[in-house]
Amino acid sequence: MKLTSRHLLLGVTGGIAAYKAAELARLLVKAGAEVQVVMTQAATRFVAPLTFEALTGRPVYTDLFDSAHEAAMGHIELARWADLVVVAPATADFIARLAGGRADDLLTTLCAATKAPVAVAPAMNQQMWANPATQESVKTLKRFQTLIWGPAAGEQACGDVGPGRLFEAAQLFQLVCDHFAKGLFSGVRALVTAGPTHEALDPVRFIGNRSSGRMGFAIARALLEEGAQVTLVAGPVSMKTPRGVTRVDVESALQMHEAVMQRVTPCDLFVATAAVADYRPQKSATEKIKKSGEQLTIELIRNPDILADVAALEDGPYTVGFAAETECLDEYAQQKRISKRIDMIAANLVGAEEGGFESSENALSVFWEGGQQQLPLADKLRLARQLITLMSEHFYARTGTENP
Ligand code: C5P
Repeated sequence: MKLTSRHLLLGVTGGIAAYKAAELARLLVKAGAEVQVVMTQAATRFVAPLTFEALTGRPVYTDLFDSAHEAAMGHIELARWADLVVVAPATADFIARLAGGRADDLLTTLCAATKAPVAVAPAMNQQMWANPATQESVKTLKRFQTLIWGPAAGEQACGDVGPGRLFEAAQLFQLVCDHFAKGLFSGVRALVTAGPTHEALDPVRFIGNRSSGRMGFAIARALLEEGAQVTLVAGPVSMKTPRGVTRVDVESALQMHEAVMQRVTPCDLFVATAAVADYRPQKSATEKIKKSGEQLTIELIRNPDILADVAALEDGPYTVGFAAETECLDEYAQQKRISKRIDMIAANLVGAEEGGFESSENALSVFWEGGQQQLPLADKLRLARQLITLMSEHFYARTGTENP
């Protein structure tokens, strides 16, 4: 779905068009978004919070000083949670307060406290829209990079005709979708590895690991969403290929190495999420190994390091690796980034208590030369999108090209 795992904060202020926000909430939820509605007190006079609660499956927030809501998710947390804030409808009063930097109710406070983009969909009488004070506020908001969606012109609830109508829900929904389809990696050729490798002992047995491939598939999907051409070299996993991704299936580390080396040359970006076996049996028996003595010794030899080999290429792609550790996460990850000579490394703790390998959630510490950032626990698609945003900043700086 288009908006899977997107966090939408939908602000509803007190105007007759508030009923259209219910349809917008429905469309957003249907497209896979998580929608948190925040209403001003005046908005609750037009539409009952219960309507939005039923549509979104979340309690509606209306009050800055509601201790129950603050305990569940405080307003600063909520401001951080949002990927996009959409205020629809936005009244003349709300627009004036927002432009004035006020934080005198929950919604204005959230708009002030969030780093996420804020989009405002005005809805008011045409004379109020034309009012110079409103027009000044709108100009101010545009200067602050607030997105102004609308208004439409036409017949108004009060009988007037002119600009001031709220955009239809379908139109606002499309603007939300377009906002997320901005294409950070438009035209970039990306190669991603994912999943475990299986190192054959005989025709029926192998040495493997617990990697599910989820993180790599999420990265492939997130890159595709951002406009990249994505080839995914996948070890043995039971994951559906994101539509639009070219998938190459392999079993062993040697096969993965070969598949990557054959395809990497024209690529601009290489993301190695695969949990590649470090060693493989020196000999893979052609027939099933039979039980015999009390002990069985298997000689293992080192596999090639795919990521390090790609990083060593002259004019190679921008390289991003992963490091799964059970201890000393930051130190080992940094060592790995330096020894493999890669541009960026995303490290996570694995073990009984952590997210990681088989889990649908993960948390990452990301390192590059001279910097680092923590990406807190989140589902893997969400985390992949955050990592990709971070990657894009460094990718364009390193390759000397422009972010489109
Ligand atoms: O050295 P370590 O296996 O911990 O490094 C992890 C990173 O290196 C991951 O990005 C993994 O995909 C990559 N790697 C590789 N080929 C190997 C071993 C690891 O590409 N043989």
